[in-house]
Amino acid sequence: MRRPASALDPSKIETPAFVIEERLLRHNLGILRRVADETGVTVLHALKAWATWPLFPVVKEYLDGTEVSSLNEARLGREKFGPEVHMYAPAYKPEEFDEVLKNCSHVIFNSFGQWEHFKKNVRTAKKNISVGLRINPEIETGEKHGVWDPCAPDSRLGVRRNEFERELTRNPRALDGVDGLHFHIFFERGLGDLKKALTKIEKRFGRYFRRMKWVNFGGGQKITDDGYDVGGLIKLVKDFQKKYDVRVHLEPGAATCWHAGTLVASVLDIIERKDVPYKVAILDISFEAHLADFILSPELELKIRGAGKKNRYEHAYKFGGGTCLAGDKIDRVYTFKKPLSVGDKVVFEDAIQYTLVKTTMFNGVQHPSIVLWKNGKPKTLRIFSYADFKSRMG
Ligand SMILES: Cc1ncc(COP(=O)(O)O)c(C=O)c1O
Repeated sequence: MRRPASALDPSKIETPAFVIEERLLRHNLGILRRVADETGVTVLHALKAWATWPLFPVVKEYLDGTEVSSLNEARLGREKFGPEVHMYAPAYKPEEFDEVLKNCSHVIFNSFGQWEHFKKNVRTAKKNISVGLRINPEIETGEKHGVWDPCAPDSRLGVRRNEFERELTRNPRALDGVDGLHFHIFFERGLGDLKKALTKIEKRFGRYFRRMKWVNFGGGQKITDDGYDVGGLIKLVKDFQKKYDVRVHLEPGAATCWHAGTLVASVLDIIERKDVPYKVAILDISFEAHLADFILSPELELKIRGAGKKNRYEHAYKFGGGTCLAGDKIDRVYTFKKPLSVGDKVVFEDAIQYTLVKTTMFNGVQHPSIVLWKNGKPKTLRIFSYADFKSRMG
């Protein structure tokens, strides 16, 4: 399936706005559905990456349920998406746990201690809850033990093999009532990385997979990205399911909305300095408040529609946001064929995953609206107001 080109006309967008293109979203969802149809895997949308619930009716047409990380996400998943809600959290709060059970179909624990602590609640719950344990396969993820690496040596995420075996020696019935094992190890990786990792994971945990009903491969795979080997993934999970007689669960987040949306901003001012070979354009967004990951990890590439890299075109700019923070800027030079002017629209590509869910109202900056682009026109889903700012401050 070829990805359709973006049909967005930024001149029709009132800025600032996160704009989701329905056709592009459906393209991604179609790929994920194909994987589900051809393998029988359960595909969940990870709400942590993108949770614009007014569009869940579209997502629901393709995916089986939601993967959630908190009681709030669990409620949203159940209310707006449906009953298949799989929750994982590093630790659950005792006072919230019964609510978690009401909203979830699957609950994944981060340690044997947590499972032990909440076993009674699960067993006395009014409905059947499928229980899983997160494992930490301690593999090299390629993330160099940085913030995106769940397998870093000091990671708190998941049970390691030595801990797993120690627990089973102490209590041979420790896995009684556990239906599934879960791992999440990647950040935006291809199938080759998953294949390599799976070989190691099978060596370390394979003997336990046969005792399970399901194995959750987490997210972090660029399944819907151009060039991803979707056929290879289908074969991999089919073989895995057959080998261990389990059902595989996948919980992509970014892959759902990858390339399906933009953040559209306007130029408010242009500053020219003698000591640098570029101009500085100040926008009506904030990088700190609206595109936080690009400040956290400056190596992530934030693309701008129509812009080239340094030296590609004649007119060079750096971009800054509208807050007082010195670091509210992108440390990259973008070049354009034509000079920018005040009022011009700037379209940040691929700006939906892990942006909208992480925004703040730092400095009271205007939160970008949420807009759906469909059939050649914008439909505003949400506008943020002073009342939204005020209600968060007290
Ligand atoms: C447990 C878990 N599942 C799924 C995901 C979704 O990952 P991605 O958005 O990279 O596909 C994450 C992301 O951090 C995660 O922590």
